[in-house]
Amino acid sequence: MQDTYTFKHRNILGIEQFSREDIRYILSTARSFKEISTRAIKKVPTLRGRTVVNLFFEPSTRTRLSFEVAAKRMSADTFNISASTSSTRKGETLIDTARNIEAMHPDIIIMRHSCSGAPQLLAKHVKAAIINAGDGAHEHPSQALLDMLTVLEHKKEISGRKIAIIGDISHSRVARSNILGFTKLGATVTLTGPLTFLPPGISKMGAEVVDNIRDAVTDADVVMTLRIQQERQNDPLIPSLKEYATFFGITPTLMKLARPDALVMHPGPINRGVEMTPNVADGKQSVILDQVTNGVAVRMAMLYLASGGDRNNSEA
Ligand code: CP
Repeated sequence: MQDTYTFKHRNILGIEQFSREDIRYILSTARSFKEISTRAIKKVPTLRGRTVVNLFFEPSTRTRLSFEVAAKRMSADTFNISASTSSTRKGETLIDTARNIEAMHPDIIIMRHSCSGAPQLLAKHVKAAIINAGDGAHEHPSQALLDMLTVLEHKKEISGRKIAIIGDISHSRVARSNILGFTKLGATVTLTGPLTFLPPGISKMGAEVVDNIRDAVTDADVVMTLRIQQERQNDPLIPSLKEYATFFGITPTLMKLARPDALVMHPGPINRGVEMTPNVADGKQSVILDQVTNGVAVRMAMLYLASGGDRNNSEA
């Protein structure tokens, strides 16, 4: 990283906005924060006096909790609003909800929404920094950053690696952010899944698409499977979960085609026995819980950088 580098982004809306240097900077910032979570007293004053609002219109376990844990470990004041408890249920628009939150002067609003582009819309209407915690089938930048950090930790280098992503690509914001991120860092991303899960034109994002799972997994450094998102399918796109598991579920036999030290990854939540067998999910090659651990460090880095980071935080 050149000494002259400055991270210039206030809103974190997607991996698309980042250069390779930006991604490297976020990952190295996350690595420097990771040790804080291993201390007996897991708290630093970096964001003391800052207010962080979690505004989640879709269910979440990992993302919401780890943003909250990250903010609290940096001493920010945190508040949670979910769809079921917000006045959008009474007909208030998203923009009005956001403007009312803004009237209480939060510094950062973290938003998850089922509509692609919702965080981008919010960023145009409020002064607080916006962090996208997943918008529809568009992007999930914090997930891709924690995935890249996990691969970097285990493989030392991302450039030149083969990342196989398997499953419901068409509904997956995780796949889109990971394709953008891993290819920017010089990896090859290979996609496969049932044809109904492979959106036309996805290869224009820089990924290779293959129709045979064996080709996708062969010599892979990382085998990442995606959750079947039944809640986003109006009409079923696969005959049954059993059939999906038979043709696209990751098994120990399939993993023998990958590199011997290949990593097994999944963003969660897992449908056990569908996307992968339980012995793969819990096996030696699985780094699924490392992904969750790294989620806190990555989100600490995102909050720090969205709040001004090195530029205006003398206590950092
Ligand atoms: N990976 C992920 O986004 O998980 P949650 O839906 O639990 O946040």
